[in-house]
Amino acid sequence: MRYLDHFPNADLRAIEAFLQEKAQWLAQGKKGSERFRLPYESVQHIRAAECDFSSDVVSIGRADELSRQDREKVYKAMRDFMPWRKGPFEVFGITIDAEWRSERKWNRALPELPELKGKIVADIGCNNGYYMFRMAHLKPKLVLGFEPYLQHYFAFKTLNGFAGCGNLLCELLGVEHIGLFRKGFDVIFLMGILYHRSSPVEVLREIRAALKPGGVLIVESQGIPGKEPWALFPKQRYAKVPGTYFVPTAACLENWLSRAGFSGVKIFFSHPMSSREQRRTEWMVFESYADYIDQANPALTVEGYPAPIRIFARADNPL
Ligand SMILES: C[S@@+](CC[C@H](N)C(=O)[O-])C[C@H]1O[C@@H](n2cnc3c(N)ncnc32)[C@H](O)[C@@H]1O
Repeated sequence: MRYLDHFPNADLRAIEAFLQEKAQWLAQGKKGSERFRLPYESVQHIRAAECDFSSDVVSIGRADELSRQDREKVYKAMRDFMPWRKGPFEVFGITIDAEWRSERKWNRALPELPELKGKIVADIGCNNGYYMFRMAHLKPKLVLGFEPYLQHYFAFKTLNGFAGCGNLLCELLGVEHIGLFRKGFDVIFLMGILYHRSSPVEVLREIRAALKPGGVLIVESQGIPGKEPWALFPKQRYAKVPGTYFVPTAACLENWLSRAGFSGVKIFFSHPMSSREQRRTEWMVFESYADYIDQANPALTVEGYPAPIRIFARADNPL
């Protein structure tokens, strides 16, 4: 069965045409595509005998499974995928300490997740698939990752090439394609995406259209503190990040979700960001959270805006 057969209501023609275009573009080996395709291909022959997705560190393969030669190849491929934003991973004994302690986000979301067993799930902006591997432990039928960037797409394909999880897939799709999957998903994860979109309510409406009736959305977003239903709209950058549009309070996010047609909207967690959670490591050697925040006043970003919090919400697509 092709995985797209799981989506009987989707606009398959449009999805397939887009994916074919991407595949052709990759096959032409255009400059830029090789940088991450070649590391992926260099270790394609390697499979892991043992994986563990049940705890904070996603573990794929043991150190003693590989010859010295293959271990060197894996190490080189992993270094080629730097900077590693999401993790931690342990890959054939190689510890990859990523910029983000992603297990913290996952552990906050976990108690509020609906049943994933046997479900069709989307992870939008899945990056290298850290959360998809954590989901795999909960036995979904399919997790489809949407990730338009080649670096992350090939990092995921490399990791899953080792791990061999047939129910985890990633495509070079963006959140802008979610509407094509009409009534397709039981659960959609939208984490770290919403503040990068110039029309957040429109995105939420499209996401609702891609959920089955009764389906569940889990949202995690950067936000600002405050009780009023407001969103900050930065002039250029927010915490040095370009492409940031609306940064909501929790009350504002709640209103967005309700007005996009979701029911049972629940803000279930929020917390201030910190450099314990997002920091420079050996696997991400550039600026990180501490560099984005006013040294004299950690309640402000370097631009003088309120420093970010992270907000978690769950919402239902009405039956
Ligand atoms: C801030 S990260 C969040 C990653 C992960 N979901 C998390 O919560 O830790 C944003 C991710 O979205 C991806 N991305 C960028 N543009 C996108 C788009 N148009 N649609 C979906 N994802 C996108 C980025 O490459 C990156 O992996």
